[in-house]
Amino acid sequence: MRHLLSVEQLTPDEIEDVLGRVAAFKAKRPSHPQPLRGQTWAMIFAKSSTRTRVSFEVGIHELGGRPLFLNASDIQLGRGEPIKDTARVLGRMVHGAVIRTYAQQDVEDFAAYSGIPTINALTDEEHPCQILTDLFTYREQQGSLAGRVVAFLGDGACNVAASWLFAAAKLDFQLRIAAPAGFQPDPETVRRAGGRVTITADPAAAAAGADLLYTDVWVSMGKEAEQAQRLRALAPYQLNERLVRLAQPGALVMHCLPAYRDKEIEEATFEAHADTIFRQAENRLHTQKAILDWLVERQVEPASRGARGGGAGAEATPA
Ligand code: CP
Ligand code: NVA
Repeated sequence: MRHLLSVEQLTPDEIEDVLGRVAAFKAKRPSHPQPLRGQTWAMIFAKSSTRTRVSFEVGIHELGGRPLFLNASDIQLGRGEPIKDTARVLGRMVHGAVIRTYAQQDVEDFAAYSGIPTINALTDEEHPCQILTDLFTYREQQGSLAGRVVAFLGDGACNVAASWLFAAAKLDFQLRIAAPAGFQPDPETVRRAGGRVTITADPAAAAAGADLLYTDVWVSMGKEAEQAQRLRALAPYQLNERLVRLAQPGALVMHCLPAYRDKEIEEATFEAHADTIFRQAENRLHTQKAILDWLVERQVEPASRGARGGGAGAEATPA
């Protein structure tokens, strides 16, 4: 059974497979296949979301399925029911799950215990759905990223930066992460990712000649207590016109959103590149459909459950 738990676990071929499906779903909307017909997908969210929630709710609906949004604090999970028990209950009732939470281990455990396709909709460690969208958006506008230079500026230790890190070796582009001490990716993660990655404290060095400049919020969800310290330390890493002028002429500027103007990105830079940034946001919808389609293609139907027309995995044991 397939899951989408991290970019780290995807092969280059799997990334290509998903990106190809994004193009097809985008081109054919609304008259594309409906591989989730008759299915219900749980969406368990422990953190806020606009894009991820709406794109999955609309995407599941347009693929013929029914999204079931569950605020993590409204279900018994929020009162301490273990994730592995939640997984074994939902696995007997729904056909797949989309989870936004804190610990990566929770989505890994949900996948292992539920027996249904499971999607990481953001954890503290990775945001794979976002990076698949970003890879598609770059390709759609500028062609292949292979051999190009991507500069990530700001909180280099955040989930979005980590997913970029794991994508670099797989798609053969150069990644430069500019972040101050304390906000650079863990060296062990960099080693595991491999590829052509440079970590620097110099934002100008990272931006020089880059084909894509990327940033994310300085205060990720769950880090609110560190806000003052983060705003101070990350201020020199703002994505602004000075850095855009150092990049390749015509370089793309991306932001996963939500954006905090004149914090991680200058207002003028944001507005100058709003077309790309909101194209990224729109592409979340097409990408979620591609991910869902890719997951259910490999959904093995246990013989005893064939009549149910779904993939709920009551006989699941942890992998
Ligand atoms: N980029 C992103 O994941 O946005 P949301 O937090 O609004 O889902
Ligand atoms: N790094 C951000 C991404 C938001 C989409 C966060 O985790 O809050």
